[in-house]
Amino acid sequence: MRILDGKKTAEQVRQEIKKEVATWVDKGNRPPHLAAVLVGDNGASQTYVNAKIKDCEEVGFKSSLIKLSDTITEKELLEKIDELNSDESLDGYIVQLPLPKHINEKKITQAISPTKDVDGFHPENLGKMVLNLPTFLPATPYGIMQLLEYYSIDTSGKNCVVVGRSNIVGTPVSILMSRNNDPGNATVTLAHSRTQNLEALIKTADILIVALGKPDFIKGDMVKEGAVIIDVGITRVTDSSRKKGYRVAGDVHFESVKKKASFITPVPGGVGPMTRVSLLKNTLLACKRKA
Ligand code: GUN
Repeated sequence: MRILDGKKTAEQVRQEIKKEVATWVDKGNRPPHLAAVLVGDNGASQTYVNAKIKDCEEVGFKSSLIKLSDTITEKELLEKIDELNSDESLDGYIVQLPLPKHINEKKITQAISPTKDVDGFHPENLGKMVLNLPTFLPATPYGIMQLLEYYSIDTSGKNCVVVGRSNIVGTPVSILMSRNNDPGNATVTLAHSRTQNLEALIKTADILIVALGKPDFIKGDMVKEGAVIIDVGITRVTDSSRKKGYRVAGDVHFESVKKKASFITPVPGGVGPMTRVSLLKNTLLACKRKA
């Protein structure tokens, strides 16, 4: 069994981005500029956004953190988005999800200019992804593809089961895995809450991608011997023995599944760091495209 070390891989990718930024700035260009919009005080969202800002500093990007109260109205947030869309000094931005219940996430996502949508959530960018046209790939699926590529995992012709059909992970990664690309070319099944005989299906997976948000859902006896396991889950589980009062759990029960897997991502330190690095790659692309 080998660990798919997202932390180490992401660090290498960051070093490459850092060099590219230095060359770019040496030529007289301004550094890439990413903004992150955080609405409310969701603890996990705060942690993720802070990490994204820290990554920007590490690679030489300019970054802006825009903190908004959870009492902001949808109209006010849409006005903020208009402002960011027309801000010439900004290459890309993200609105961290989830948003408070009174705000329609679809409306917000669609208001972000596709040229600045470095999360790749806008319908125009997702459409381009489906057609294999140049675009911003959604950060988590893009991170997973980079990790598979980095470890030279052969996905062609393999059975890939994706568990969870969210707009930001399950659905796009199932498309990327099935495209005529390397990595890709897999035979993909997208499983969800209505799937029958889920356990039997999971057993057929050469590559299993789990993005459910159910801690420790996948156990060792459910997976095929030699499977490649990608765990996208990241849930805070109350644990009073920890200093922070919680532990971070994936959707995969690591200790039992690792005995069966050929490759497996840990949580934390697997997919998460790769997601962040994808955002940097998309921002650099947005900046260069604009120039
Ligand atoms: N919430 C969970 N993952 C993401 C992500 O990749 N981007 C944004 N904007 N919000 C998220």
